[in-house]
Amino acid sequence: SEVKEIHRTAYHFQPPSHWINDPNGPMYYNGFYHLFYQLNPKGAVWGNIVWAHSVSTDLINWTPLEPAIYPSKPWDKYGCWSGSATIIPGMGPVILYTGIIDDKNTQVQCYAVPENASDPYLKKWVKPDLHNPIVVAEEGVNGSAFRDPTTAWYGKEDGHWRMIVGSKRKHRGMAYLYRSKDFLKWVKAKHPIHSSADTGMWECPDFYPVSMKGQNGLDLSAMDAPDVKHVLKNSLDLTRYEYYTLGSYSTSTDKYVPDNTSEDGWGGLRYDYGNFYASKSFFDPSKNRRILWGWANESDTPQDDVLKGWAGIQAIPRTVWLDPNQRQLVQWPIEELDSLRGEQVTMKDQVLQKGDHIEVTGITPAQADVDASFSFTSLDNAESFDPSWTNAQDLCAQKGSKVQGGVGPFGLLTLASKKLEEFTPVFFRIFKAPDKHVVLLCSDASSSTLKKSKYRPSFAGFVDVDLAEKRLLLRSLIDHSVVESFGAGGKTNVLSRVYPELAVQNNAHLFVFNNGTEPIKIEYLSAWSMKPAVRY
Ligand code: FRU
Repeated sequence: SEVKEIHRTAYHFQPPSHWINDPNGPMYYNGFYHLFYQLNPKGAVWGNIVWAHSVSTDLINWTPLEPAIYPSKPWDKYGCWSGSATIIPGMGPVILYTGIIDDKNTQVQCYAVPENASDPYLKKWVKPDLHNPIVVAEEGVNGSAFRDPTTAWYGKEDGHWRMIVGSKRKHRGMAYLYRSKDFLKWVKAKHPIHSSADTGMWECPDFYPVSMKGQNGLDLSAMDAPDVKHVLKNSLDLTRYEYYTLGSYSTSTDKYVPDNTSEDGWGGLRYDYGNFYASKSFFDPSKNRRILWGWANESDTPQDDVLKGWAGIQAIPRTVWLDPNQRQLVQWPIEELDSLRGEQVTMKDQVLQKGDHIEVTGITPAQADVDASFSFTSLDNAESFDPSWTNAQDLCAQKGSKVQGGVGPFGLLTLASKKLEEFTPVFFRIFKAPDKHVVLLCSDASSSTLKKSKYRPSFAGFVDVDLAEKRLLLRSLIDHSVVESFGAGGKTNVLSRVYPELAVQNNAHLFVFNNGTEPIKIEYLSAWSMKPAVRY
């Protein structure tokens, strides 16, 4: 029905119906990308979890297959939860996943292998009875908070595979380390690879090396390579946000030590300051890049999800690399997305005075890709920054797009109704602190819909960017109920889920705006209508 379809995405990954959550076991193997994901095949709420499976040659258009892993054994009878794929050289892929063995959510780690490794789609997976489950919670490990095994990596020096399982001990987040000689018998290391006080359960850990030079991604076989840093990401179920640190690790110590530039725990670095959770990355050898998938849950009520008949999308896959400043990662939508670009409109050297908002016409604003560069001649007008403003989201809620500023707010009004009864602004605001400028990127859902029952957070993050060129870049991927934005070339990113009542389909509009005293020049803006992806 119309109601059910009105907020469905056209080019983000989602199945035709039902509930989805975490991306699982992403990999590239024998010419195909595989995406598995948590699915409830019976409804639009979480439950009955299986690993759904789709394959692709471009990460954008997908061929759906039958679920690959579903409850069929005593050790996964109550659910097949998240996990990862490891490609063993000379052998092929192995999936590690969490099995639920009882109605108390007791968790064990299991493995599955392709029934026929020469089937290009790897349709059927088997779970050998011998050795499964491969890891059970031993004495002292909390068996109902013990899940989401990572991709394994190999230590050449000692000939052991290693993997991480997420957990908690009381309130302490834990990344337990396991080692194995044969990938079948796994032994818990004496010390977790890392842990952190008061962060609660670490779901979906991800651990990988990044190159200190350039944007190429690395396989986990480069864990001990020179000129690499390491990334440890955890999804914190207490806040439903994920945090990562940059740090160092070697297989000889098996300890991960975060850099002193990376805050460890709450308030740390985030891939995305919006709705983005349970993410997982993988190395793509066909293009030498590391790709990050994340789940974007609904902001709808569970009742609305049931009425829609679906819930959850995957964010657009992002290439991820280390920023040259080595203090953070950078992400950018995979280049294959550009193949969906249709009609294009451009603006050039257009100045926006205080209070201006100009419509961008000639494309489909509900299904678009917008890429813009904004510049200003002076920072003198920047509002002064109050050092108590440590929480970007609170600051965005307080200083929304309608609150006039000095330099900014400026940016886009996405999914806007003609008369602006509804709009989701994505904008920058620049403040002046004693010895630096503070840049805020805000994606504010508070005015996104007239329906007040919706969750409408003012998502925002600070942007660690050099303003010497007096320019800020913004790209937003707009897709009916999602606005996924990349600030300053992918340094600070924010994904919002929104459900307009008026600004839907052909009634959606797109504007550029400035509500600061400093004039803002649109150096360039390109906006494209996006074609739908083939997904089923
Ligand atoms: C994260 C998570 C994982 C778990 C899965 C269950 O969203 O809770 O920790 O394996 O979802 O669906």
